[in-house]
Amino acid sequence: MNRLELIRAIPKAELHVHIEGTFEPELMFAIAQRNQIDIPYKSVEEVKKAYNFHNLQSFLDIYYAGAAVLIHEQDFYDLAWAYFEKCAEDKVVHTEMFFDPQTHTDRGVAFATVINGLQRACDDALTKLGISSQLIMCFLRHLSEEVAFTTLEQALPYKDQIIGVGLDSSEVGHPPSKFERVFAKAREAGFLVVAHAGEEGPAEYVWEALDLLKVNRIDHGVRSEEDPKLMARLIAEKMPLTVCPLSNLKLCVVDDMAQHNIQRLLKQGVHVTVNSDDPSYFGGYMNDNFISIAEALDLSNDEIKTLAKNSFEASFISNEQKQKWNNQIDALA
Ligand code: HPA
Ligand code: ZN
Repeated sequence: MNRLELIRAIPKAELHVHIEGTFEPELMFAIAQRNQIDIPYKSVEEVKKAYNFHNLQSFLDIYYAGAAVLIHEQDFYDLAWAYFEKCAEDKVVHTEMFFDPQTHTDRGVAFATVINGLQRACDDALTKLGISSQLIMCFLRHLSEEVAFTTLEQALPYKDQIIGVGLDSSEVGHPPSKFERVFAKAREAGFLVVAHAGEEGPAEYVWEALDLLKVNRIDHGVRSEEDPKLMARLIAEKMPLTVCPLSNLKLCVVDDMAQHNIQRLLKQGVHVTVNSDDPSYFGGYMNDNFISIAEALDLSNDEIKTLAKNSFEASFISNEQKQKWNNQIDALA
Protein backbone atom coordinates (compact mmCIF):
# COMPACT_ATOMS: atom_id res chain seq x y z
CA MET A 1 0.00 0.00 0.00
CA ASN A 2 1.31 3.46 -0.76
CA ARG A 3 1.28 6.15 1.92
CA LEU A 4 -1.99 7.75 0.89
CA GLU A 5 -3.76 4.40 0.69
CA LEU A 6 -2.45 3.50 4.12
CA ILE A 7 -3.68 6.77 5.65
CA ARG A 8 -7.14 6.18 4.21
CA ALA A 9 -7.36 2.50 5.18
CA ILE A 10 -5.84 2.49 8.64
CA PRO A 11 -8.25 2.48 11.61
CA LYS A 12 -7.83 5.48 13.89
CA ALA A 13 -9.16 6.91 17.13
CA GLU A 14 -9.77 10.65 17.44
CA LEU A 15 -9.04 11.97 20.94
CA HIS A 16 -9.10 15.72 20.43
CA VAL A 17 -12.10 17.13 18.62
CA HIS A 18 -14.48 19.83 19.87
CA ILE A 19 -17.93 18.95 18.61
CA GLU A 20 -18.75 22.67 18.31
CA GLY A 21 -15.65 22.93 16.11
CA THR A 22 -17.09 20.49 13.56
CA PHE A 23 -19.91 22.92 12.74
CA GLU A 24 -19.80 23.32 8.96
CA PRO A 25 -21.11 26.66 7.59
CA GLU A 26 -23.81 24.92 5.52
CA LEU A 27 -25.29 23.26 8.62
CA MET A 28 -24.85 26.47 10.64
CA PHE A 29 -26.96 28.34 8.07
CA ALA A 30 -29.64 25.64 8.02
CA ILE A 31 -29.94 25.55 11.83
CA ALA A 32 -29.85 29.35 12.13
CA GLN A 33 -32.70 29.53 9.65
CA ARG A 34 -34.92 26.95 11.32
CA ASN A 35 -34.28 28.56 14.73
CA GLN A 36 -34.86 32.03 13.24
CA ILE A 37 -31.56 33.37 14.52
CA ASP A 38 -29.72 36.11 12.66
CA ILE A 39 -26.05 35.48 11.95
CA PRO A 40 -23.76 38.24 10.71
CA TYR A 41 -23.05 36.55 7.36
CA LYS A 42 -25.02 36.50 4.12
CA SER A 43 -23.54 33.35 2.62
CA VAL A 44 -21.41 30.28 3.27
CA GLU A 45 -18.61 32.06 1.36
CA GLU A 46 -18.81 35.02 3.75
CA VAL A 47 -18.56 32.70 6.74
CA LYS A 48 -15.48 31.02 5.30
CA LYS A 49 -13.91 34.41 4.58
CA ALA A 50 -14.21 35.26 8.26
CA TYR A 51 -12.01 32.26 9.14
CA ASN A 52 -8.69 34.11 8.84
CA PHE A 53 -7.43 33.55 12.36
CA HIS A 54 -3.98 34.49 13.55
CA ASN A 55 -4.13 33.15 17.09
CA LEU A 56 -6.31 31.14 19.47
CA GLN A 57 -8.44 34.08 20.66
CA SER A 58 -9.34 35.29 17.16
CA PHE A 59 -10.58 31.77 16.44
CA LEU A 60 -12.48 31.39 19.72
CA ASP A 61 -14.45 34.60 19.12
CA ILE A 62 -15.88 33.19 15.88
CA TYR A 63 -16.27 29.65 17.27
CA TYR A 64 -18.45 30.84 20.18
CA ALA A 65 -20.53 33.05 17.86
CA GLY A 66 -21.24 30.05 15.59
CA ALA A 67 -22.26 27.82 18.50
CA ALA A 68 -24.94 30.36 19.48
CA VAL A 69 -27.38 29.03 16.87
CA LEU A 70 -27.59 25.65 18.66
CA ILE A 71 -30.79 25.62 20.71
CA HIS A 72 -32.71 22.35 20.47
CA GLU A 73 -31.77 18.73 21.14
CA GLN A 74 -32.07 18.02 17.40
CA ASP A 75 -29.48 20.74 16.67
CA PHE A 76 -26.92 18.96 18.84
CA TYR A 77 -27.86 15.66 17.26
CA ASP A 78 -27.42 17.04 13.73
CA LEU A 79 -24.07 18.59 14.64
CA ALA A 80 -22.67 15.35 16.05
CA TRP A 81 -24.18 13.18 13.32
CA ALA A 82 -22.50 15.26 10.60
CA TYR A 83 -19.17 14.69 12.39
CA PHE A 84 -19.76 10.93 12.63
CA GLU A 85 -20.35 10.81 8.86
CA LYS A 86 -16.90 12.39 8.41
CA CYS A 87 -15.46 9.79 10.81
CA ALA A 88 -16.91 7.02 8.66
CA GLU A 89 -15.23 8.51 5.54
CA ASP A 90 -11.88 8.80 7.33
CA LYS A 91 -11.89 5.38 9.03
CA VAL A 92 -12.10 6.96 12.48
CA VAL A 93 -13.60 3.99 14.32
CA HIS A 94 -13.55 5.49 17.82
CA THR A 95 -13.82 9.08 18.98
CA GLU A 96 -13.65 10.86 22.34
CA MET A 97 -15.39 14.16 21.71
CA PHE A 98 -15.18 17.36 23.72
CA PHE A 99 -18.23 19.48 24.30
CA ASP A 100 -18.42 22.87 26.03
CA PRO A 101 -21.59 22.85 28.18
CA GLN A 102 -21.02 26.38 29.48
CA THR A 103 -21.18 27.82 25.94
CA HIS A 104 -24.77 26.57 25.85
CA THR A 105 -26.01 26.76 29.45
CA ASP A 106 -24.86 30.41 29.62
CA ARG A 107 -27.35 31.11 26.79
CA GLY A 108 -30.19 29.38 28.63
CA VAL A 109 -29.94 25.99 26.89
CA ALA A 110 -30.41 23.17 29.42
CA PHE A 111 -27.52 20.80 30.11
CA ALA A 112 -29.96 17.95 29.36
CA THR A 113 -30.72 19.32 25.88
CA VAL A 114 -27.03 19.29 24.97
CA ILE A 115 -26.21 15.86 26.36
CA ASN A 116 -29.37 14.16 25.10
CA GLY A 117 -28.79 15.35 21.53
CA LEU A 118 -25.13 14.31 21.55
CA GLN A 119 -25.87 10.96 23.20
CA ARG A 120 -28.53 10.06 20.66
CA ALA A 121 -26.04 10.71 17.85
CA CYS A 122 -23.42 8.60 19.66
CA ASP A 123 -25.93 5.73 19.96
CA ASP A 124 -26.82 5.96 16.27
CA ALA A 125 -23.12 6.12 15.30
CA LEU A 126 -22.58 2.78 17.00
CA THR A 127 -25.61 1.02 15.55
CA LYS A 128 -25.59 2.54 12.05
CA LEU A 129 -21.88 3.19 11.40
CA GLY A 130 -20.12 0.88 13.87
CA ILE A 131 -18.28 3.87 15.41
CA SER A 132 -17.78 3.87 19.19
CA SER A 133 -17.56 7.12 21.10
CA GLN A 134 -17.25 8.80 24.48
CA LEU A 135 -18.01 12.34 25.62
CA ILE A 136 -15.59 14.61 27.50
CA MET A 137 -17.02 17.75 29.08
CA CYS A 138 -14.69 20.77 29.01
CA PHE A 139 -14.62 23.67 31.44
CA LEU A 140 -14.00 27.04 29.78
CA ARG A 141 -10.81 28.29 31.40
CA HIS A 142 -11.55 31.98 30.76
CA LEU A 143 -14.47 31.56 33.21
CA SER A 144 -14.07 31.15 36.98
CA GLU A 145 -13.41 27.96 38.92
CA GLU A 146 -16.63 28.71 40.81
CA VAL A 147 -18.80 28.34 37.70
CA ALA A 148 -16.83 25.22 36.73
CA PHE A 149 -17.99 23.72 40.05
CA THR A 150 -21.59 24.52 39.07
CA THR A 151 -21.10 22.83 35.70
CA LEU A 152 -19.62 19.77 37.42
CA GLU A 153 -22.73 19.57 39.64
CA GLN A 154 -24.95 19.76 36.55
CA ALA A 155 -23.01 16.89 34.98
CA LEU A 156 -23.33 14.48 37.91
CA PRO A 157 -26.77 13.10 36.91
CA TYR A 158 -25.21 12.24 33.51
CA LYS A 159 -22.06 10.69 34.97
CA ASP A 160 -22.56 7.44 33.03
CA GLN A 161 -22.61 9.31 29.72
CA ILE A 162 -19.52 11.46 30.31
CA ILE A 163 -16.19 9.68 30.59
CA GLY A 164 -14.07 12.64 31.53
CA VAL A 165 -13.58 16.34 32.04
CA GLY A 166 -11.23 18.63 30.14
CA LEU A 167 -10.09 22.24 30.05
CA ASP A 168 -10.23 24.44 26.97
CA SER A 169 -10.63 28.04 25.68
CA SER A 170 -8.15 30.93 26.13
CA GLU A 171 -4.99 29.38 27.55
CA VAL A 172 -2.54 32.20 28.31
CA GLY A 173 -3.39 33.85 31.63
CA HIS A 174 -5.61 30.93 32.69
CA PRO A 175 -3.18 28.28 33.96
CA PRO A 176 -4.29 24.79 35.03
CA SER A 177 -3.62 25.77 38.67
CA LYS A 178 -6.77 27.94 38.51
CA PHE A 179 -8.82 24.70 38.31
CA GLU A 180 -6.93 22.46 40.75
CA ARG A 181 -9.83 22.03 43.18
CA VAL A 182 -12.58 21.41 40.65
CA PHE A 183 -10.42 18.81 38.91
CA ALA A 184 -9.80 17.09 42.27
CA LYS A 185 -13.56 16.95 42.77
CA ALA A 186 -14.11 15.61 39.26
CA ARG A 187 -11.53 12.84 39.83
CA GLU A 188 -13.17 11.96 43.15
CA ALA A 189 -16.48 11.66 41.33
CA GLY A 190 -14.86 9.13 38.99
CA PHE A 191 -14.20 11.22 35.88
CA LEU A 192 -11.01 10.76 33.89
CA VAL A 193 -9.24 14.07 33.30
CA VAL A 194 -7.48 15.78 30.41
CA ALA A 195 -6.47 19.40 29.80
CA HIS A 196 -5.31 21.64 26.98
CA ALA A 197 -1.79 22.78 27.86
CA GLY A 198 1.26 23.91 25.91
CA GLU A 199 -0.68 25.01 22.82
CA GLU A 200 -0.09 28.77 23.15
CA GLY A 201 0.79 28.56 26.84
CA PRO A 202 4.28 27.69 28.13
CA ALA A 203 5.71 24.31 29.15
CA GLU A 204 5.04 25.35 32.75
CA TYR A 205 1.31 24.86 32.09
CA VAL A 206 2.01 21.26 31.05
CA TRP A 207 3.82 20.67 34.37
CA GLU A 208 0.78 22.09 36.18
CA ALA A 209 -1.64 19.89 34.23
CA LEU A 210 0.43 16.84 35.22
CA ASP A 211 1.18 17.72 38.85
CA LEU A 212 -1.92 19.66 39.91
CA LEU A 213 -4.71 18.35 37.69
CA LYS A 214 -3.21 14.82 37.45
CA VAL A 215 -4.33 14.43 33.86
CA ASN A 216 -4.54 11.17 31.89
CA ARG A 217 -3.58 12.97 28.66
CA ILE A 218 -2.30 16.39 27.58
CA ASP A 219 -4.21 18.10 24.77
CA HIS A 220 -1.78 19.76 22.31
CA GLY A 221 1.35 19.92 24.51
CA VAL A 222 3.57 20.78 21.54
CA ARG A 223 5.42 23.47 23.50
CA SER A 224 6.71 20.77 25.87
CA GLU A 225 9.67 20.50 23.53
CA GLU A 226 11.02 23.75 24.98
CA ASP A 227 11.73 22.01 28.32
CA PRO A 228 14.07 18.98 28.23
CA LYS A 229 13.12 17.89 31.78
CA LEU A 230 9.47 17.90 30.82
CA MET A 231 10.24 15.90 27.68
CA ALA A 232 12.02 13.27 29.80
CA ARG A 233 8.99 13.07 32.08
CA LEU A 234 6.49 12.71 29.22
CA ILE A 235 8.59 9.94 27.68
CA ALA A 236 9.12 8.07 30.97
CA GLU A 237 5.41 8.20 31.84
CA LYS A 238 4.20 7.47 28.30
CA MET A 239 1.98 10.50 28.70
CA PRO A 240 -0.11 10.95 25.54
CA LEU A 241 -0.16 14.27 23.69
CA THR A 242 -3.17 14.82 21.43
CA VAL A 243 -1.50 16.86 18.70
CA CYS A 244 -3.57 18.81 16.12
CA PRO A 245 -1.37 19.74 13.14
CA LEU A 246 -3.80 21.76 10.97
CA SER A 247 -5.00 23.63 14.07
CA ASN A 248 -1.41 24.54 14.96
CA LEU A 249 -0.83 25.83 11.44
CA LYS A 250 -4.08 27.83 11.26
CA LEU A 251 -3.54 29.44 14.70
CA CYS A 252 0.13 30.19 13.96
CA VAL A 253 1.49 27.90 16.67
CA VAL A 254 3.77 26.80 13.80
CA ASP A 255 4.64 28.92 10.74
CA ASP A 256 4.94 26.09 8.30
CA MET A 257 3.91 22.40 8.44
CA ALA A 258 7.45 21.38 7.48
CA GLN A 259 8.50 22.84 10.85
CA HIS A 260 5.89 20.97 12.90
CA ASN A 261 7.51 19.02 15.73
CA ILE A 262 5.21 15.97 15.72
CA GLN A 263 7.75 13.78 13.93
CA ARG A 264 10.61 14.93 16.20
CA LEU A 265 8.46 14.19 19.26
CA LEU A 266 7.60 10.76 17.85
CA LYS A 267 11.25 9.94 17.14
CA GLN A 268 12.20 10.92 20.69
CA GLY A 269 9.62 8.52 22.09
CA VAL A 270 6.82 10.88 23.10
CA HIS A 271 3.38 9.24 22.83
CA VAL A 272 1.92 11.59 20.19
CA THR A 273 -1.41 11.16 18.38
CA VAL A 274 -2.98 12.98 15.39
CA ASN A 275 -6.28 14.85 15.78
CA SER A 276 -8.40 17.50 14.05
CA ASP A 277 -9.37 19.83 16.97
CA ASP A 278 -11.92 22.07 15.17
CA PRO A 279 -11.97 20.61 11.66
CA SER A 280 -14.62 22.88 10.18
CA TYR A 281 -12.53 25.92 11.10
CA PHE A 282 -9.01 24.61 10.53
CA GLY A 283 -9.27 23.15 7.05
CA GLY A 284 -9.68 19.45 7.55
CA TYR A 285 -10.73 16.30 9.36
CA MET A 286 -8.58 13.40 10.54
CA ASN A 287 -7.22 12.21 7.20
CA ASP A 288 -6.48 15.77 6.06
CA ASN A 289 -4.33 16.12 9.18
CA PHE A 290 -2.50 12.87 8.47
CA ILE A 291 -1.96 13.74 4.81
CA SER A 292 -0.74 17.21 5.63
CA ILE A 293 1.99 16.02 8.04
CA ALA A 294 2.85 12.95 5.94
CA GLU A 295 3.61 15.17 2.95
CA ALA A 296 5.32 18.03 4.79
CA LEU A 297 7.48 15.76 6.98
CA ASP A 298 7.78 12.78 4.64
CA LEU A 299 6.40 10.34 7.21
CA SER A 300 7.12 6.66 6.62
CA ASN A 301 4.39 4.01 6.60
CA ASP A 302 5.81 2.73 9.91
CA GLU A 303 5.46 6.18 11.45
CA ILE A 304 1.85 6.37 10.27
CA LYS A 305 1.14 2.97 11.83
CA THR A 306 2.73 4.06 15.11
CA LEU A 307 0.61 7.22 15.18
CA ALA A 308 -2.57 5.19 14.57
CA LYS A 309 -1.61 2.63 17.23
CA ASN A 310 -0.83 5.43 19.66
CA SER A 311 -4.36 6.79 19.19
CA PHE A 312 -5.92 3.56 20.47
CA GLU A 313 -3.33 3.07 23.21
CA ALA A 314 -4.01 6.60 24.51
CA SER A 315 -7.80 6.21 24.31
CA PHE A 316 -10.17 5.26 27.11
CA ILE A 317 -11.33 1.98 25.48
CA SER A 318 -10.74 -1.44 27.09
CA ASN A 319 -7.48 -3.35 26.71
CA GLU A 320 -9.29 -5.95 24.61
CA GLN A 321 -10.48 -3.28 22.20
CA LYS A 322 -6.97 -1.80 22.06
CA GLN A 323 -5.57 -5.23 21.20
CA LYS A 324 -8.20 -5.74 18.51
CA TRP A 325 -7.35 -2.49 16.70
CA ASN A 326 -3.62 -3.09 17.15
CA ASN A 327 -3.95 -6.46 15.43
CA GLN A 328 -5.92 -4.92 12.57
CA ILE A 329 -3.20 -2.31 12.07
CA ASP A 330 -0.48 -4.96 12.13
CA ALA A 331 -2.38 -6.93 9.49
CA LEU A 332 -2.22 -4.02 7.01
CA ALA A 333 0.46 -4.48 4.37
N1 HPA B 1 -7.71 25.39 22.19
C1 HPA B 1 -8.39 25.88 23.23
N2 HPA B 1 -9.70 25.90 23.27
C2 HPA B 1 -10.39 25.42 22.25
C3 HPA B 1 -9.76 24.91 21.15
C4 HPA B 1 -8.34 24.88 21.12
O1 HPA B 1 -7.67 24.43 20.17
N3 HPA B 1 -10.73 24.53 20.31
C5 HPA B 1 -11.91 24.77 20.88
N4 HPA B 1 -11.71 25.34 22.08
ZN1 ZN C 1 -8.68 21.73 21.35
